[in-house]
Amino acid sequence: MANPNCHSLVTCLVAIDGPVASGKTAVGRALAQRLGWRLFDTGVMYRAATWHALRNQVHLDEAESVAELIREAEIVLRPNGASGAELDIFVNGDPATPHLRQPAVESAVPVVAAIAEVRELLVAQQQRQSAQGRLVVVGRDIGTVVLPDAPVKIFLTASEEVRAQRRAIQTNQESESEAVLRATRQRDRRDRGRAASPLVAADDAVTLDTSELSLDESVDAAEQIIRDRLDALGHAGETS
Ligand code: CDP
Repeated sequence: MANPNCHSLVTCLVAIDGPVASGKTAVGRALAQRLGWRLFDTGVMYRAATWHALRNQVHLDEAESVAELIREAEIVLRPNGASGAELDIFVNGDPATPHLRQPAVESAVPVVAAIAEVRELLVAQQQRQSAQGRLVVVGRDIGTVVLPDAPVKIFLTASEEVRAQRRAIQTNQESESEAVLRATRQRDRRDRGRAASPLVAADDAVTLDTSELSLDESVDAAEQIIRDRLDALGHAGETS
């Protein structure tokens, strides 16, 4: 896809939300590549905050203590690698990126992500980070809370079984598919059930079910959604 012109910032953001392992990051990464933009995966911020709380041995059920730790932490996102197409994350100068997929982080992240003050701090930073535009922004509340004015919002989904299977392959746990399915369900339940910014599709999001689609087919479908949306908004031709 040729790069949409960024005459106004509002044409330079695509928001992708969805549940665990719905393909947000993989689809977002491929879309960003096609657009020549950068991927901003906001999940890394909640994971880095969780890692920081765990390494400081803060009790996660003490919401105020966790919030205070995050309020005082310096969380920095920096373009990574030679291409700079994605962002690495540092907490108080320490690289957090290598630790974000640890099982302890994986299971604790929805608890930290449910703390309203933690969300406020991270959302404010996500909004500042997105002000530069030319980003595919991926998360749970991007279309509803972080970037409610984003011109293109996609809600990616897939059946629970397909998502659990994808996560099991991704984490080399194919022999433990039942356990992965249980963990997927539990994290989904927490993300959808929390009081602060629960996972929900924005009213103006287009839902894309990828259960039956390969990654390439999902990216093609997402690209079509972007074209249709920009056409509808009067930006016809910008993606052709
Ligand atoms: O890759 P996966 O979908 O499994 O997770 P992720 O996008 O890395 O997000 C990890 C967790 O962070 C989610 O389960 C949510 O609890 C939280 N999160 C959130 O609350 N809001 C966001 N914008 C992004 C992530």
